[in-house]
Formats: sequence, C-alpha cells, structure tokens
Amino acid sequence: MSKTYAPPAAMAANAHVNAAKYDEMYAASLADPDAFWKEQAGRIDWIKDPTRIKDVSFDLGNVSIKWYEDGVLNVAANCIDRHLETRGDQTAIIFEPDDPNDAAQHITYRELHRNTCKMANVLKGMGVGKGDRVVIYLPMIPEAAYAMLACARIGAIHSIVFAGFSPDALGARVNGCDAKVVITADGAPRGGRVTNLKDNVNKALLHDTDDVQCLIVKRTGQQIAFRNGLDFWYEEEAAKVADDCPPEPVNAEDPLFILYTSGSTGQPKGVVHTTGGYLVYAAMTHQITFDYHEGDVYWCTADVGWVTGHSYIVYGPLANGATTLMFEGVPTFPDASRFWQVCEKHKVNQFYTAPTAIRALMGQGDDFVTKCDLSSLKLLGTVGEPINPEAWDWYYNVVGGGKCPIVDTWWQTETGGHLMTPLPGAHATKPGAAQKPFFGVMPVVLDPTSGEEIEGDGVEGVLCMKDSWPGQMRTVWGDHERFEKTYFSDYKGYYFTGDGCRRDEDGDYWITGRVDDVINVSGHRMGTAEVESALVAHEKVAEAAVVGYPHNIKGQGIYCYVTLMTGQEPTDELRLELRNWVRQEIGPIASPDLIQWSPGLPKTRSGKIMRRILRKIAENDYGSLGDTSTLADPSVVDELIDNRMNR
Ligand code: WT7
Repeated sequence: MSKTYAPPAAMAANAHVNAAKYDEMYAASLADPDAFWKEQAGRIDWIKDPTRIKDVSFDLGNVSIKWYEDGVLNVAANCIDRHLETRGDQTAIIFEPDDPNDAAQHITYRELHRNTCKMANVLKGMGVGKGDRVVIYLPMIPEAAYAMLACARIGAIHSIVFAGFSPDALGARVNGCDAKVVITADGAPRGGRVTNLKDNVNKALLHDTDDVQCLIVKRTGQQIAFRNGLDFWYEEEAAKVADDCPPEPVNAEDPLFILYTSGSTGQPKGVVHTTGGYLVYAAMTHQITFDYHEGDVYWCTADVGWVTGHSYIVYGPLANGATTLMFEGVPTFPDASRFWQVCEKHKVNQFYTAPTAIRALMGQGDDFVTKCDLSSLKLLGTVGEPINPEAWDWYYNVVGGGKCPIVDTWWQTETGGHLMTPLPGAHATKPGAAQKPFFGVMPVVLDPTSGEEIEGDGVEGVLCMKDSWPGQMRTVWGDHERFEKTYFSDYKGYYFTGDGCRRDEDGDYWITGRVDDVINVSGHRMGTAEVESALVAHEKVAEAAVVGYPHNIKGQGIYCYVTLMTGQEPTDELRLELRNWVRQEIGPIASPDLIQWSPGLPKTRSGKIMRRILRKIAENDYGSLGDTSTLADPSVVDELIDNRMNR
C-alpha cells in the first residue's frame, strides 16, 4: 500500500469537483456522453450552438472523430472578446522575461484584444486566410500568444515549432504543412544566451522554391539578414493596420492547429486538433484539474512549442478568463531559485511543471526554495513523464510546504488535454500515479499479445482508450492512413496510447512508460528512429541503433550504438562530432548522451536489429537478455557487453 495524501479540507470544500461530484459526473459522462458533453459545450460561446454532439468511429479503415460538428464558433473570441465586458482590465498574461532585471509585463484582456487584432490584420495583409497554414517559431514572448490567437481569429491554422529545433527540423515542418508565413523573432534570449532565430529561418527556407513570407518580431535588436519583398518587421506592419478585426466564424471541426510530434517510425507526424471539442476540453480540464478560481494567478512553465503550452498556457486558461504567466527563461538562470522567485514575485497560486525540472532543482539543495515566500501556492502539477517518489516528496514538502495537492497529469500531444489525473479536491493523491480518468475517458488495460481487455484490479498491460473525448486529435495532417495505422491498427476498435500501465488494487492507474520505440527525454518525446536517421546521414556512419536508458535528471537518456564506415577511427573527437551533428540535424533536445562504438549490432537472421537486447545492455542489465537464440551472430552481444563494461 502506498501512502496517500488527502485533499486539504479547505480545497475539498470549495473545489469545482469534490469526491461525490467526481463519482456522479464520471458516471453521467459514461452513461450518456451526448447529454454530458452537450452541457459542457455551454462553457464556451458559440455563434451557432451545436446540435450534433458526438459522431465517432474507431473502426480501422473507417476511423472518424467528430464532436459538435454543426457548431460554429471562434476560439479567439472565446479567449478574449467574451471577457472584455467583465474583465477587460484584468491581467490576461503576465510576461516574465529571461533576464530578471528586465521588467515583467502585465497584459490586460483589452490589450490582448488589441494586439491579437493587429497581428490578425497584418496576417490578412500578407494574404493569409481561412484554412491557410502559419508556422510560429518564436521565443516565449507575448507575441507567441498573439500569433496563435490571431490565426484562430481569422480561421488560419497554426503550427508552432519549438524555438530549440534546428533549421532542418523547421524546414521540414514548414514544407510539411505548406505554410504561407513563418512568424519569428530576430533572436531568442534563453538562460542568458541568444538563439539566432531569424538566421535559422533563413537556413530553413534556403532551398524552398515557393516564397514563404516571414513576419519578424523584434526581441533582441540584433542584426539579421532581411529578405527583401518576403520579410516584414511586425512592429512596422502593425503600425499600419486597424486594431480591430472581426472574428471569423469557424466550424467546430475545422482545424485549429497542427503540432508535429515524434513517433516510433521515421518522420514526425502533424497532429491535427480541431476547434470546438478541443476548446471545450482544454477549458474544462484547466478549470477542474487545477481547480482554477476567479482571480487566481496560474503558471505553467512549458513552452508554447509543446502541446502543454497550447492547452495550458494559452487556450485553456484564456478561455476561462484566467491570468496566465508566460516565462521566457529557464529554471536555472541566473540560478536555481528562479522558478521560486517568479512564484513569489507574481504570487502564483497554481504551478505546473515537469518532473525533469523538479529533479534538476532538487539536486541544487533546498535553500534556493526556502528563501522564497511561496505562501501563495495552492496547487502543484506535473506532466510529461512518470514522477519518481523522491522528486514527488521534495516537490510536495519543500516546494508545496506539505499543503498543496500534486496533480500528476497524464496525457499526450494527441489527446489535447488531460486524460488521467487525480482531482485536487476529490482524490487522495498517490505519489507516482496518474490515478483517475477524467470525465468521459474510458481507459482499458489490454493484454499486449492477445489484445484482450484485462478486467479487474492489480493488473498490467498496454493502455488504450475505449471511446473518444472531445479533445482527441482528428487526423495526421495530410495522411489519414498513417493516423489509422499508428493509433487504431494494433488493437482493433481502441485508441492505442503507446504507453504501458498498471491498474492497482484500488483501481488507480500508473503509467509505466512507452511500449514503442519512443523515448521520453526530459519530458519530451523523441523517436529513436529519428536520431538513427540523423546519425546514418553522417558520412562516417554505416549503421546506428538508438535506445533509451535511465538518466538521473532527464528520466531517459539517448544511448546510441554506432557502427562506423570501414577505415574510420573511433575517436573521442568523432564522438563529439556526431553529437554536434545530431544537435544540428534535429536540435539540442536530441543530443546523444552516450555513444558506444559497435563493430556489429545484434540482428536476427532476417536482419532485424534486436533492440530488446540493446536496451538491456544500455541499462547495464546483462543478466536478463532473454532469448538470444534467434541471433545471426551471438558473439556480437558479448563484444557489446565487453565494450559497455569497459567504458
Ligand atoms: C507521453 C506523451 C502531454 C504533454 C507532455 C508530453 C508521457 C506524459 C505523463 C505522466 C507518466 C507521462 C507518456 C505519454 N507522459 N505525462 N503524468 N506520467 N508519463 O506530451 O510529447 O505528447 O508525450 O509522455 O509516455 O505517452 P508528448
């Protein structure tokens, strides 16, 4: 039995959802999804109310997911305009810049309206209209939110590329969705260093045959190479346009955004989220999971380049009329106290971050935390990977002072919002467990071999969803077949999450990690196949296999087995060269942690690399290599183990 932590009495008493209400609402959400989600649609404003609520098929060959399909709305109007009357002067966004000596900005809902309208009009002037794609490659500055909302306002589809991605990765995403415009900045300050964003854009677009325009926000004031006729300074264009732009009526099933994410094979997929269901789900989960109340200051430390930033920095909070904090920097700059100083400075009430950040800060000692006044905190959240008990305890006791519930939210880019999490006023939390399904969510544990549902408690298997929820992704951009194949073909009739899980004796869910060739590095998803293709693209590399291994801070590290071309010397310089090569091909988040020279890789007689064995060796776990009888050349394994032990 693991120790549990009951909701604080005051929180349970005032929570949007307490224990009894959770049970009642959860039962209602399964008993009559149409009635339940029709009522929830009332959270947002519709230009035309939906009458058709749910129309879903998970049948392979015929997968189709529609929510509120005859409804019409505008996301920007929901996130801004409808708040103007009651909270026009309330802060919508608090911007905390990278350098703590620079002033924070408080942007009211009225200012947000003006800035979003300006950006929308500028985009229109560049020829962007409904259904067109706009790539956003920006630092964590308020303009990133304006850009997202400006696209939503005119019915354009945004695709944000994390500013840490390389020019190649950016170029692939710009081409992947045929973007008309890239919105970027001259540079991105982060942790006291600057990334030359506009340079990266120029490199990304170098080989582009259709002329992609670029809108540049001035952030650092540094020199940039300007492409005449194609590049425009945002500030100059904004000065020329009106500060009102009517919101475009958008169908509930029109795409709101595309977000590329890594999978187990080859190229990243463009995950498509649509308008109505996504917004209802983001708003509802934001309010209920974080127990957000009017006037609270809420901070999610993610970057808008990830889905967490979409749903829980911008769309969910703003749909709820919240005050949401945008932080440009990193947790350790200027020192390991930064998060807590920002919490103190802005009197943050709900704080949401990743286990990797918690582990990194925990290692720096408690003083960085305890010297700050964190009395405003009411709730803590985590996302991205399972949280280990030591990190959970530290977060709970040192950061939360033993009084803030921790919501461990399990979800994915594909799910749009939280699918499993304890609710802070309803459930006694269990360190490390994502625990309870959100309303309407029907998790099942399947036997990985038979694909049968495993009933009862105290069981383990792969995690699937039996039915849809409004925030679910609808397709892979331009490749519906890939969508069906990735998520609906392994286990017929279910949405396959790619995660393994355990349902404990109490019926609570624990995520055990990915069961596919995806690894989780610092809460970011990385396809091992992507790193492999980057490695083999190097002229000195003949073959590569990449697996994850346990890493103290990152959760999982990137372990690369590399076979060199004949005649190449395996030197430390070459290791460094390959490491930089991968950073340049994909981005710093894909940096190999360990490279092991491997004259041969363990393969079956049909030539398939046996990753199971490579994972075990990377984990230093040689005792349980499992069945090696199908190996073409078993001596390869001994050699790898030898190498690993002598490192
Ligand atoms: C994968 C999704 C959703 C935003 C962040 C990552 C892992 C996510 C948890 C958690 C255990 C978690 C899963 C999932 N994951 N949250 N609370 N406990 N694992 O989004 O890049 O789409 O990655 O992250 O493995 O499948 P993503």
